[in-house]
Amino acid sequence: MRNGKKVVVTYGTYDMFHHGHEALLRRAKALGDYLIVGVTSDDFDRVRGKLNVNQSLTERMHAVEATGIADLVIAEEYQGQKIADIRKYGVDIFAIGSDWEGKFDHLKRYCDVVYLPRTEGVSSTALRAQAAPKIDLGIIGGDYIAVRFARECSHVSDADICAVYTFEGQDAAEVCKEVGKEDLPVAASVEELCQQVKGVYISASPDQRESLIRQALTAGCHVMCEGPMFFSRAVGEELFALAEEKGLVLMEATKTLYFPAFERLRWLLESGAVGEIKDIRASFTQNPSWLNKGDIYQGSFYDLASYVLLPATTFLGNEPTDARLICSYEGDFCSWTKCELLYPSASASLIAGRGMKTEGDMVITGTLGYVYVPAPWWKMDYFEIRGEDLRDTKKYYFECAGEGHRYEAFEFMRRIRGGEDAYLPMQSKEDVLAVTDLMERFIAGDVIRLQQGAYHFGGGETVTDR
Ligand code: CTP
Repeated sequence: MRNGKKVVVTYGTYDMFHHGHEALLRRAKALGDYLIVGVTSDDFDRVRGKLNVNQSLTERMHAVEATGIADLVIAEEYQGQKIADIRKYGVDIFAIGSDWEGKFDHLKRYCDVVYLPRTEGVSSTALRAQAAPKIDLGIIGGDYIAVRFARECSHVSDADICAVYTFEGQDAAEVCKEVGKEDLPVAASVEELCQQVKGVYISASPDQRESLIRQALTAGCHVMCEGPMFFSRAVGEELFALAEEKGLVLMEATKTLYFPAFERLRWLLESGAVGEIKDIRASFTQNPSWLNKGDIYQGSFYDLASYVLLPATTFLGNEPTDARLICSYEGDFCSWTKCELLYPSASASLIAGRGMKTEGDMVITGTLGYVYVPAPWWKMDYFEIRGEDLRDTKKYYFECAGEGHRYEAFEFMRRIRGGEDAYLPMQSKEDVLAVTDLMERFIAGDVIRLQQGAYHFGGGETVTDR
């Protein structure tokens, strides 16, 4: 009760405001005397993985206000805000549509919780589908990354997986299961797949990527491919030119780049949160049970270069003045690559490892302080900005929904729709080609090669390198 008035609160996204929303607001208002409506903010929607919202927070709040039913319209910005609001506004009743039945029972400790009947036959999802038809996508590949990608696409409203192509020894059934379509067509060839869809996502061995990208672009499909996409700059430039000529999207699927936390970190660094960046240190190592050291393309730099170089290209730029690669091989398999990059006023030391393991955190050193991202930084949802006095540490948490592929899938859809210049500065062609340059050097053997098995601690008899 506030000033003798019974206070009711309700929350929602209210995208493309429709008569179901209005009916809900009227029912909620009828429960008391004063109605507060919480509208989810763009950020809150993004971190909870709701990536399909069409209208901005301002537009959605205005639509609610325009009904004249609400006495107060507020933004819902974070998880846990509902309890804070209930206390702050002296709420008596929390009301929400019956599609949420049981989901808010934990609020009964604070006020009454009422589930109101939902209006049949209308939803924002349906209106969005009418406004923007789905984009037919194909998946090339059937490894665990492709399976995850298929699963995550269900959270991107305009992505519709319509066909799949898998390589020898892979099971298409797993991808079909995740897509939720038992009758999902399994194409007999990449060519056949490309005829059925508008865009393709490619998860293939690094040595197959160039030719798959070329095939898909030639067939007129937009492409998002796991990186590194190219082994040589000449091929990279040629394929980017082909995409441009045909008006197609060609982008790398480096999912970390589109995580809410990575995006925030980028904004904070751009606005000088640690001063001028002087150094970046990061590692990405994996020792998975499926590793086959007989396949050189599963090696450290071949498969992980795009990820491990991401902090440098994003925060320091795509034009290092010097670079060196220090590699450790087991036969032809490169299990460890340390990439040292020099920029005019900064340096970076980045480690990729396959078949070895080290701490996977990241430190970005600046003139005013540093960023600490705990392992695994490539799945970041949390980071700290620290300074001289640890009491000044600022902690940031931005949930990453699911496995995070939904964010890159959303970006792919946005770019296909022609949203190139919209709110996010994306990975540029030159960012991609900066990785290609290093890949080209790596393949040419332009690396410092560590000797094998000769350390005093680690099995060998003699010490050859310290
Ligand atoms: N609501 C309703 N009847 C509908 C649609 C929504 O009563 N046909 C209610 C919801 O139960 C919720 C509020 O309106 O209490 C805001 O719902 P919101 O999720 O924003 O709308 P939806 O149309 O359900 O959106 P979406 O399709 O994105 O889930």
